[in-house]
Amino acid sequence: MNQSKKIILTGIQPSGKLHIGNYLGTLRYWPDYSQSYNCFFFIADLHSLTEDYNPAEKRSQIITLAAEILAAGIDPNKCTFFVQSDIKEHLELAWIFNCITPISFLERMTQYKDKSKSQKHNINVGLFDYPVLQAADILLYDTDFVPVGQDQLQHIELTRDIARFFNNRFGETFKEPQSKLTETAKIMSLTDPAKKMSKSAGEKSCLFLADEPEIIEQKIRKAVADKSGLENLYRLGEAFIKNFDRKEYKDNNLKLKNTLSQAIIDSFKDFREKRRMWFGKEEKILEILKKGAEKAKKIAAAKMILIRKKIGISLT
Ligand code: TRP
Repeated sequence: MNQSKKIILTGIQPSGKLHIGNYLGTLRYWPDYSQSYNCFFFIADLHSLTEDYNPAEKRSQIITLAAEILAAGIDPNKCTFFVQSDIKEHLELAWIFNCITPISFLERMTQYKDKSKSQKHNINVGLFDYPVLQAADILLYDTDFVPVGQDQLQHIELTRDIARFFNNRFGETFKEPQSKLTETAKIMSLTDPAKKMSKSAGEKSCLFLADEPEIIEQKIRKAVADKSGLENLYRLGEAFIKNFDRKEYKDNNLKLKNTLSQAIIDSFKDFREKRRMWFGKEEKILEILKKGAEKAKKIAAAKMILIRKKIGISLT
């Protein structure tokens, strides 16, 4: 690791194929980040256990996400790319943070409140504690910047609070990280543009990075183009069409949709090929993740020794 570089850390949950919202919001910047920062990119499998899921699918979701992250262009030799659950220190630190985090702070988290509504039958403790584990992910590696979308800002603020509480009580130990907000406008569902694009709203509402050209074409052709739907298509145009000018497409939705489909199809051509290539190389993916975990583990384990001393549970 180059000591003079600042540290970036971010994670994505393995819960299905990546969609264009994930890509524009964070993943597209990862290759560039790894040039100028020391980067930790990880698959947040433990966080994903807080949602309803089928255990028979989880492994393949993790491998698929790894393949897609690699296909999006990160070089695993230039960053630390790993699976969260391989590093048990995240959990140990989360527990320690549990013991300094006021319940009332977690009760304010809007993601928890939203998920408790959408997952009424399964409001588990993990869902509530989610941001504390996220704080552990971040603080364990002395992170300077956390690239996140708008919806995660509150969790980063909480992470800073936790760092401060800990430092005040036990002595200077953690850096207070900053969020690095990505500029992208929020991408909405294609079928219900009042809602954020998300896989849970159904296949047709969502453009997946892995979608084949004819599927992309079909989904965009059928996309709702009322006032807010059109705004969403314009946003996608701004993201994918070179020198996009809204005026050029005024009153011509057909032209907008056709140009947009082609631009998106072209943008992910390379991704689709690399994804196919990685799918044939599961062994290699496992090896990359293992190496990444070894790198992460060294840093995490060293930091935990220090933390245990500070809180008084280190006997030697
Ligand atoms: N909560 C993040 C999301 O759903 C995923 C995540 C888990 C994360 N741990 C993190 C992001 C640490 C940044 C840093 O988007």
